Amino acid sequence: MTMQVEKTAAPVTAGVDHESVLIVDFGSQYNQLIARRVRELGVFSELVSPSIDRETALKKQPLGFILSGGPDSVYDEGARTIPPWILESGLPVLGICYGMQALAQALGGKVEAARTREYGCARFEGADGGLLKGLSASEQCWMSHGDHVVAPPPGFETLARSGETIAVIGDARRNIYALQFHPEVEHTPCGAQILRNFLEICGFHFDWTPRAFLEETTEELRRILGGERVLCALSGGVDSTVAAALVHRAIGDRLLCIFVDNGLLRKGEREWVSEKLTAMGLPLRVVDASERFLALLEGIDDPERKRKIIGETFIRVFEEEADRAVHDTPGGYSFLLQGTLYPDVVESGSGGGTLADLIKTHHNVGGLPEDHKFRLLEPFRRLFKDEVRRLGREMGMPAEMLERQPFPGPGLAVRLPGAFSAEALDTLREADAIVREEIEARGLHRGFWQYFGVLLPVRSVGVMGDRRTYSRAAAIRVVTSQDGMTADVPEIPFEVLKKISNRIVNEVPGVNRVVLDLTSKPPSTIEWE
Ligand code: XMP
Repeated sequence: MTMQVEKTAAPVTAGVDHESVLIVDFGSQYNQLIARRVRELGVFSELVSPSIDRETALKKQPLGFILSGGPDSVYDEGARTIPPWILESGLPVLGICYGMQALAQALGGKVEAARTREYGCARFEGADGGLLKGLSASEQCWMSHGDHVVAPPPGFETLARSGETIAVIGDARRNIYALQFHPEVEHTPCGAQILRNFLEICGFHFDWTPRAFLEETTEELRRILGGERVLCALSGGVDSTVAAALVHRAIGDRLLCIFVDNGLLRKGEREWVSEKLTAMGLPLRVVDASERFLALLEGIDDPERKRKIIGETFIRVFEEEADRAVHDTPGGYSFLLQGTLYPDVVESGSGGGTLADLIKTHHNVGGLPEDHKFRLLEPFRRLFKDEVRRLGREMGMPAEMLERQPFPGPGLAVRLPGAFSAEALDTLREADAIVREEIEARGLHRGFWQYFGVLLPVRSVGVMGDRRTYSRAAAIRVVTSQDGMTADVPEIPFEVLKKISNRIVNEVPGVNRVVLDLTSKPPSTIEWE
């Protein structure tokens, strides 16, 4: 066995160091959105903890800082504070919401504790110019705050007001600014302009583009990898496929992609994925391990147990294939490629961000073992999913590959609540295919994050022709989402729902009833298990 215990070195993150905005994370739910907005403007940004030390932070080449919103009140005991070296650095600073109050407090302004929280759309009035360059005299914004600043610190001017509330303050001499509202959310239409103005004040070159990332990363991958070979556990999903295409661009056939068919894939998926990847020129080995997975899952009904079996079996199958590849190839393989994204890094706490609760055991992208001999290559540890898609587009990858809906590692097994059986799996696969077909046929899927079928462990009575049936129910699950962390249920034309329902009960033996899942996340999760 090749993958014996040997702790790996830190994962290799490709992506040349870039001038950046560091976003000090005071815990707001919008923080990743700030980072994304800034990047959409062409500037690299990263979330950092308020406890980050000066040396680590300065290595990241910041040209400015954004202090995020957060749930604290500056009057709370233990409220998070601004690292003093940020204010002494002489670099521009933008405080947002709690960041504004923390700034005012630190610099000698006056913050008033809230009697009530202000939450919702508001308008603010300010003069065009500086941070507010290009804005109209009155603009809409999104407020979500408790405390507010009642007297700006010495040296600061009030640049805009929202009724009685101070909405924007600034000290143009020191380039320190603050907003009471959230510029990163859609309800603040001028938010991108304000962020752009701030980034201009910082002196950025606006050169964080997919093309630049592609060229720099390709070069860097060649340098890091030298003559080494890379193995990739390819799922056919967007992240692992773009990662594979990127590494293939850098090192050609020294990459080998292993695609494991765990038997839990959607209808036609294995064929579709192999065909597309082969057409892209990726060196691919398809492994059919479906019987092994299905035999182990038969009869299991506990969701966590199912996930565990699938995760562990995947590791074993992958290990065997990796062994074979290492054995068959002179020089072997020294790197494992994974499509890990920035939100995964932030949420696992290793990026210095907040620790999210683990709701389900998400095995990592390929479900790879923790102890192995390979070094991990994770070129997307700094990217958001939309950046990965843009990168794929930049490399000329087909849209149908880049716009695929996310599909969980444990596959259809987590859409089959109750005892697992291969027969139920086949039923679900057919029902799911109909949901996908009808939605895609109308182009509705472009607005959806995920759309799929679920087979319920519930039987109900029905009539088909003259016959009484006693069969299972299927559910239609469709959600919109930015990143899978939260999700909403979109409106779907009723005739589409009826068509799906009719087709499923007519075409899928074993289903005589179809229901619609109408729950958002939270309180539900997207998957049923
Ligand atoms: P939940 O069900 O937690 O799902 O709301 C959020 C998003 O994550 C996907 N998901 C997974 N992806 N391995 C994955 O690679 C997993 O084990 C897994 N579980 C859920 C889910 O499809 C949704 O997009």
